[in-house]
Amino acid sequence: MTGEAACPTDEEVAAEWARRAERNGLARVMRASQPAELNAGTTGVTRGIVDEYLRLVAADLRRPVATALEVGCGVGRLTPTLATHADRVTAIDMTPQMLDNARRNCADLTNVDFMLARAEDITWQASMFDVGVSVWVLMHLLDDEQLAKVCTSLAESLRYLVLIEYSGAQIPVSRWSRLRTLEDYLAVLPGAQVLQERSLDYGGDASTAALIRFPDHA
Ligand SMILES: C[S@@+](CC[C@H](N)C(=O)[O-])C[C@H]1O[C@@H](n2cnc3c(N)ncnc32)[C@H](O)[C@@H]1O
Repeated sequence: MTGEAACPTDEEVAAEWARRAERNGLARVMRASQPAELNAGTTGVTRGIVDEYLRLVAADLRRPVATALEVGCGVGRLTPTLATHADRVTAIDMTPQMLDNARRNCADLTNVDFMLARAEDITWQASMFDVGVSVWVLMHLLDDEQLAKVCTSLAESLRYLVLIEYSGAQIPVSRWSRLRTLEDYLAVLPGAQVLQERSLDYGGDASTAALIRFPDHA
């Protein structure tokens, strides 16, 4: 047989994330093939980037961040960083087992609302968030039309977006991920303006980190 493998169904994707949630520690949301120390180190660097970008958002807004949306919070690896900078955080994830972990890991945070939801099922237009954070989540939207729908919705409801997604991989990514460039994301984020951009190396895998502003809302 030739040609690309069929895109997994929504049910297969949900089952895959439930399976990953059964792993140990950070391997639930990071490559299981990478050593634990590397996962911890990369997590520290990632928290640093999110922290720096959220500070820049507050500086650009000229006021503290009031509301933050975390898209695909996983086990709450980055949620405490958001909770430090925003008065109120809404953290969504489509996988109940991931959210259970996040609730446990973030039990001491009083300003976070966890919500079971798929990014593509939510229309955010009714609410406006100062900032949204997506780290290694939009890369798991396998279908380009789904990605465009989610990005349009985010662009309509965010003032800023912190985006960190895989752009290259030493070991090929699995059928559960898509490698895209920042330009690919910008093409489906109407009105997006890049304020900051850098690369994040994760054991030979490359992610692009960007702080994006939506000037119509900022
Ligand atoms: C690689 S993990 C990253 C988690 C977290 N952002 C982090 O950096 O630690 C991806 C997470 O996104 C969730 N996810 C994947 N596709 C999603 C979707 N369409 N809507 C909401 N959550 C999704 C998965 O359940 C998983 O918890």
